[in-house]
Amino acid sequence: MIENEMDFEGRLSAPEYIEGDNEIENSLRPKQLSDYIGQVKAKENLSVYIQAAKQRGEALDHVLLYGPPGLGKTTLAGIVANELGVNLRITSGPAIEKQGDLVAILSNLENGDVLFIDEIHRLNRTVEEILYPAMEDGKIDIIIGKGPSARSFQLSLPKFTLIGATTRAGQISAPLRDRFGVILRLEMYTNEELAEIVKRSSKILQIPLDDEGALMIASRSRGTPRIANRLLKRSRDFAEVKYEGVINKSAASEALTSMDIDELGLDAVDRRLLSTMIRNYNGGPVGLETISAAIGEESVTIEDVYEPYLMQIGFLARTPRGRCVTPAGYKHLGIEFNPENNSSQQKLDL
Ligand code: ADE
Repeated sequence: MIENEMDFEGRLSAPEYIEGDNEIENSLRPKQLSDYIGQVKAKENLSVYIQAAKQRGEALDHVLLYGPPGLGKTTLAGIVANELGVNLRITSGPAIEKQGDLVAILSNLENGDVLFIDEIHRLNRTVEEILYPAMEDGKIDIIIGKGPSARSFQLSLPKFTLIGATTRAGQISAPLRDRFGVILRLEMYTNEELAEIVKRSSKILQIPLDDEGALMIASRSRGTPRIANRLLKRSRDFAEVKYEGVINKSAASEALTSMDIDELGLDAVDRRLLSTMIRNYNGGPVGLETISAAIGEESVTIEDVYEPYLMQIGFLARTPRGRCVTPAGYKHLGIEFNPENNSSQQKLDL
């Protein structure tokens, strides 16, 4: 594949939604906490809070979930609603444009319901202002009309639980963040957890998958279940055509190689990002905006989607003066790292 032709939409290893994810994700989403693999800490805490809320007959406190995309925030919200035995209403920050949109959603909730707002950091300020009294006192203030004839009404809401999800906890305003009683960070999954997830998925989708095939897919899924499930589907095609239907190590390996996904799960875009930094900017430090212009990807996409995994595996470092490729990143690309003429070693304080 020609690297430059690889766009974000076509990126199989992008943790964000791509077309076709929805239908598989929905069929694969666990409905109970006990079926949810990994995120041990978040799970343990949530199970206590859910049980306590149920025992007291109250709505669960508002929950903020944060972490990189594709780690199962929506799935977790669905599980919470299911375990509480209430309805789940799903929306997202950018979808709520006006105060009236949110008022309509809130006033249609039933007692105890869970309202899930994805990308909650993208709510606009005026909409957020409706949310504060709604979260705190279960009330909303509605102003009708303008100027001297304006009238204000207060509307009481049913008790509800807001579950907010964000990839950027730092971008949530302090007044909003302070109104969440529970704040949970989701972590990237281990290869073993991902292998367990694809095995569970393979049973539901009735795709024969052996242990080695599962681990091969897991180890190239960048710690992200959404990617693992997507790679499982693609590997099935290879298994059916060339390996008598079973996803074994060879079938998975051939599928991943054909998708240009290397042994650490990096795809052409990741490698282009690293190689551009090395070749054009001597490995860094280089600013986010400069990288964005050089590789033609939006800076928020680079920050939210590409960087978390590259940092997790130690190929990229964020320093106050910009991003740097680490010696391990050089090694992975097969480019010699020479501390004599490469100042990024000192910059990284290695
Ligand atoms: N599918 C997506 N995320 C999952 C998880 N954490 N556990 C089980 N199945 C999943």
